[in-house]
Amino acid sequence: MTASKRISDKLKHRIIALDGPGGSGKSTTARLLAARLGYNYLDTGAMYRALTYVALKNRVLPSDAVELKKIADSADIRFETHADVNRVFINGQEVTQEIRTPDVTRHVSEVSAHKCVREAMVTRQKELGKSGSIVAEGRDTTTVVFPHADIKVYLDASIDVRAQRRLLDLQRAGIASTLEEQIEDLKRRDAFDSRRAHSPLTRAGDAVVVDTSDMTIDQQVDEIIRLLTRAIDRA
Ligand code: C5P
Repeated sequence: MTASKRISDKLKHRIIALDGPGGSGKSTTARLLAARLGYNYLDTGAMYRALTYVALKNRVLPSDAVELKKIADSADIRFETHADVNRVFINGQEVTQEIRTPDVTRHVSEVSAHKCVREAMVTRQKELGKSGSIVAEGRDTTTVVFPHADIKVYLDASIDVRAQRRLLDLQRAGIASTLEEQIEDLKRRDAFDSRRAHSPLTRAGDAVVVDTSDMTIDQQVDEIIRLLTRAIDRA
């Protein structure tokens, strides 16, 4: 058996969980990692964003847990992932761009803080990871969704770097913003996501911290594969 065959066999059917604040590099890293390993990519933030989009469209208030739960239980959320884009569909409608608008971003933390909403989403997320071969990313994938993941990573980066990345994403989508607005928005969401009562953003005790401030995406992907391989060898 060749060395590369041995590595690929070893890496089959694993669960990789990445958490961290917005702009820490989770989404791009997870998507490319999934493409490299032939895994599925699960963007849990996109699920909460899709739910928020539908709620706002139907004039459901982000504080209305009962109505949000109804949407969470009935919504058909699907992904179509390619190496360069993760397309998101809810109830058959593509919402890939719509879920990234400032309006959705402003309200998603309040929507996702409700216990009943989280329970509905986490049940679906666990189901999607049942057969392994998945890279999941979000705020609670290492602590609540996949506490037994083969490797748990907490990605972080300085607030300036994170805001700069978010600004670039928005510019690419044709949405005007400023660095100051992005810094404010990230600080607000970091505080809200870390202090909420249910599944707050926190570093799992056994998660490896990777600071991506000075790393390229390729370096991040390589580093996580290295950490996964090391974790498997140690198990
Ligand atoms: O990762 P992204 O910035 O798209 O996530 C949007 C928001 O969704 C987060 O700020 C957080 O409020 C919520 N979220 C969550 N739990 C997750 C993923 C995202 O509460 N697992």
